[in-house]
Amino acid sequence: MFDQIIAFIRKQYQQKEGRIFLHEPRFIGNEKEYLMECIDSTFVSSVGKFVDQFEEKMAEYTGCKKAIAVSNGTSALHIGLLLAGVERGDLVITQPLSFIATCNAISYTGADPIFVDVDENTLSLSAIELAKFLENEVTIKEGKAIHRTTQRAIRACVPMHTFGHPGEIDLIVELCEKYHIPVVEDAAEGMGSFYKEKHLGTFGKIGTLSFNGNKIITTGGGGMILTDDEELGKKAKHLTTQAKIPHRWEFRHDHIGYNYRLPNINSALGCAQLEVLPTYLERKRKLAKAYENFFTDHPIQFVKEPANSTANYWLNAVMLKDRAERDEFLAHMNDHGIMVRPVWDLLNDLNLFDGIEFGDLATAKNIADRLVNLPSSVTLNE
Ligand SMILES: Cc1ncc(COP(=O)(O)O)c(C=O)c1O
Repeated sequence: MFDQIIAFIRKQYQQKEGRIFLHEPRFIGNEKEYLMECIDSTFVSSVGKFVDQFEEKMAEYTGCKKAIAVSNGTSALHIGLLLAGVERGDLVITQPLSFIATCNAISYTGADPIFVDVDENTLSLSAIELAKFLENEVTIKEGKAIHRTTQRAIRACVPMHTFGHPGEIDLIVELCEKYHIPVVEDAAEGMGSFYKEKHLGTFGKIGTLSFNGNKIITTGGGGMILTDDEELGKKAKHLTTQAKIPHRWEFRHDHIGYNYRLPNINSALGCAQLEVLPTYLERKRKLAKAYENFFTDHPIQFVKEPANSTANYWLNAVMLKDRAERDEFLAHMNDHGIMVRPVWDLLNDLNLFDGIEFGDLATAKNIADRLVNLPSSVTLNE
């Protein structure tokens, strides 16, 4: 059964032998031209026209008021959490099924994560489980959400749109609003994904994107902070540029700042990649459709985009019967040159978060036991 899958994947990529990677970056547009222009201008570092252009074009594409380019998706999340008001000792709600960066950013602020389960259809934070958690475990005191058992303030909620599949973000934001909890949307994997025709990362108070080398578009390393709040946008720019008060020659800083700017040279790549994003989305959705058709009536289940959404299908995924079958599949495919991978170890299982409270995370556990990502590069039909 696995050999048929190998043959199918090799046919999609028109590659009879050799290794097929999980996700390769691709540069088919104006990347070289913009990079040369950037080098010729000597403005390769933290200021330059490509930074401004990348931010403007990203705000336009995602439909938010302010987009602030930063060094990576993790720094974007860190700043997002600080701007949401997260402080040392606070709690931040998030999901156990995510890449470590989500929790690292929470830890940088001195807060701790508190895990709520994911939804089996969206693979992202479950609105139903979140509602139960808020009702059973949170009270509002003096306008603040307080976790009943620990009496710690819950200062933010970070849902993550897994593999670019939109979570039920409108419901999540609505629930959090009732409890005065700002939402910082981790849309690192969701560039080009829409929920109810609105781009991911634009539902919460702040949203973040990643342009790491494995993402649908890449700047080498990079990220973006998205917000509709002009003031927050200004603050984000300020904090990510060492909190320096603009002046022609004075060096004054009014806050602990961060060197999180995205250089002009990376932004040049970003401008070119954003231009080819529609082509990449088309290729990705075409590949996903082919996978979906192949796995129809197959014992291995293909993970389809959730209702009300248009996903970027950043990483295609299938669900095996159980962990034993998953491991067999991983070994067989990788042995035959097809790079497939399991989902991350659940964050609640890491020693880093020993002693952190969480409820029933059965859905995340089931997904972690069974899910495998399949090759998803946009190299298709080249
Ligand atoms: C869910 C998630 N959050 C955050 C990040 C962090 O992004 P970066 O690698 O750009 O720091 C990534 C990806 O790398 C991610 O997949």
